[in-house]
Amino acid sequence: MQQKQIIIFDTTLRDGEQVPGCQLNEQEKIIIAKNLELLGVDIIEAGFPISSPGDFKSVIELSKNLSKTRICCLTRAKKKDIEIAAQSLRYAKHPRIHTGIGTSESHIKNKFQSTEEKILNIAYEAVKYAKQFVEDIEFYAEDAGRTDKLFLAKVCDQVIKAGATVINLPDTTGYCLPEEYGKKIKFLLENVTNIDQVTLSTHCHNDLGLATANSIEGIKQGARQIECTVNGIGERAGNTPLEEIVMILKKKKELNCFTNINTKMLYPISKLVSKYTGMVVQKNKAIIGNNAFSHSSGIHQDGMLKNSETYEIIKPTEVGYNNSEDQNEEENKSSIVLTARSGRSALIYRYKKLGYELKKKKIDTIYPIFLKYADKKKEIYDEDLKEILHNI
Ligand code: KIV
Ligand code: ZN
Repeated sequence: MQQKQIIIFDTTLRDGEQVPGCQLNEQEKIIIAKNLELLGVDIIEAGFPISSPGDFKSVIELSKNLSKTRICCLTRAKKKDIEIAAQSLRYAKHPRIHTGIGTSESHIKNKFQSTEEKILNIAYEAVKYAKQFVEDIEFYAEDAGRTDKLFLAKVCDQVIKAGATVINLPDTTGYCLPEEYGKKIKFLLENVTNIDQVTLSTHCHNDLGLATANSIEGIKQGARQIECTVNGIGERAGNTPLEEIVMILKKKKELNCFTNINTKMLYPISKLVSKYTGMVVQKNKAIIGNNAFSHSSGIHQDGMLKNSETYEIIKPTEVGYNNSEDQNEEENKSSIVLTARSGRSALIYRYKKLGYELKKKKIDTIYPIFLKYADKKKEIYDEDLKEILHNI
């Protein structure tokens, strides 16, 4: 069966950047965008131009700087927003306008004090209007995760009639279970006329820690675009982490999907985004956390040293994680961290890396001393190993 391409829509510079404290200056945005292009993302959401003159200017500058990657910007379903978005995209080689409105009962009643009829009309008109400026129009049904499926089907029907090319179904509040989210997508694919004329997109927030699982379920049920951010930054608990999606699609062959992403850039771009946004990546974060490739317990270290596949499903080099001081050491870039839980094989390995080939007898002498050191300190470093050796 032919592999399906999953389009990677990166919204680090929009959903990610809108997080308080994550603001980026124009130069930083350009550097990140150029790296996202090298990484191989298909679409970059560059900003929300009506929100500020700075955001408007950034979209212009990013448009000038990107050659291959499609560039998109966000609007509400308002004429003024759409006009400003179109102006900001005037230098883009491949522009897309991303317009939309809330469709859940809560949004319609509380946010807009409106009715379903009026929302359907606003959605239709927004897409129709945006279409005058740009061919490629993505429509977002905000809070689709909590929107009644029959009403959502009517919304999709309207925006397809108005000329939408992509329909985004955000789980804005991160409320859905994977099964629930997937069923919604399946329902739309089975019940909306001409749904095959558009690409369905996922946009999942992580309020219940389900963003990645929901996006993958969306793909299993027929969505073909995933919206995500580097390091999962985004509103509240964040957005879907790009690196997780890409590695799941790469590793799980049974999903029969591929992306255009160069996975060797995942770790470097994570570092770059973290540096510029000031959002520290938690150490145990999947794929790009500092501990993702470090092994500390004796049992794991022993297994790793015999064969890295015992405890690693991803080679560090696959995601561009280079932890080795020895630049010639190609394969195993994982780190063997020495703690009080480490065993003899880890100790032998680390001494060997320092240039000491120690016999069993010597290791037997050193090991209890090492454990005493390790009980006092959290981690044992090269200097400690040398000290231990010189003191016996
Ligand atoms: O989470 C959301 O619903 C969004 C939309 C504006 C696309 O970010
Ligand atoms: Zn969002």
